[in-house]
Amino acid sequence: MAKRDFLSLLDFSFEELDYLIGRAIELRRMNEAGEVYQPFTGKTAVIILEMNSTRTRVAFEAGMNQLGGHAIFLSSNDSQLGRGEPIPDFARVMSEMVDIVMIRTQKQSDIECLAEHASIPVINAMSSFLHPCQLLADIQTFQELKGPIQGKTVGFVGDGYNMCHSYINAARQWGFNLRIACPEGFYPDENILASTNNAQMVETPQEAVDSVDLVVTDVWSSMGHESEEADRREVFQPYQVNEQLMDHASSEAIFMHCLPAHRGEEVSETLLDDPRAVVWREAGNRLHSQKALMEFLLIGKVD
Ligand code: CP
Repeated sequence: MAKRDFLSLLDFSFEELDYLIGRAIELRRMNEAGEVYQPFTGKTAVIILEMNSTRTRVAFEAGMNQLGGHAIFLSSNDSQLGRGEPIPDFARVMSEMVDIVMIRTQKQSDIECLAEHASIPVINAMSSFLHPCQLLADIQTFQELKGPIQGKTVGFVGDGYNMCHSYINAARQWGFNLRIACPEGFYPDENILASTNNAQMVETPQEAVDSVDLVVTDVWSSMGHESEEADRREVFQPYQVNEQLMDHASSEAIFMHCLPAHRGEEVSETLLDDPRAVVWREAGNRLHSQKALMEFLLIGKVD
C-alpha cells in the first residue's frame, strides 16, 4: 500500500472522507458497546506537539492504545527538533523506527516537509493554517445528529484562521454552504476562499448565522497570538456567539466549538451549556475520527 498523508482535507477524495466519517461512527458504536478491536498490535505512533494540546494528544494516545498500538509523545523540549535537528533528517529517522507520525506546529510548510521526507504516513495535528483533524470530528458530529451535511448551511463567526480555513475546505469537499463573518483585518486567506464557490464572506454575524443548520466559532486569539489578546478582545466583541445570536439560526441548529473555549469571549458564559451546543460530543469524536484516520492510513479501508 503506497503511503498516504493527511495534511489537509484536500489530500483525500470526497469518497474517502465519506468513508472515514462512516467508519468513525462505527468505531464510536464499537467503543460504546465495549468491543475490543486491536488491529495495531506492534505498531507505534510518534506524536509531536510543538504547541499545547489536550484533545488532540489524548485522542491520538488513547486511540492508539485502544487499537492495540503504542504512542510516544514528543514536545519540542524533549526532542532534538527543539534544538534544530533538520526536519528531513527527523523524518528519515522516524521512518526507520515507527509506523506513523502526528505533528502540531505553526508552519504548514514544516508539516509538508516532514511528509515529503518520511516514508510513513504523516498527520497534520494542527498548523497555523489548517486543522483538518478537527473537521473530521465536526462532520462526524453533525452527521450523527442531523444526517448528511451536503446541501446544509453553516455559519462561521470569528477569526478567519486555521479553523475557518478548514471549514472552507470542508465546504468544498462535502458540498455544504458556508457563510463567514470576521472583523476587518481577520479575514481568511484569499486563495483558500477563492478555491470554492461554497464559501462566502458576509458583513455581520447575524447574516452568517441566519437560518443556518450549524453555527461554529473559534477562540479570538489562537496559539501564537497571545500578545494581541487585549486588542483582539475589543475588535472581536461584536462577533461573540451567544444565545441571542443562535436564535437567528434555524430552530434545529446546533453549535460547535473545537475547544478550548473562552467563556465570556467568543462564546457567552452559558452557551456551552445550552442544549443547542454539542461541543462535548464533538470533543469526544476527536477520539473516534482520529482512530478511523489512523486505521485508514495504516491498514486501508475495512469492510
Ligand atoms: N481542538 C483541539 O485541537 O484541542 P487541543 O488544542 O486541546 O488539542
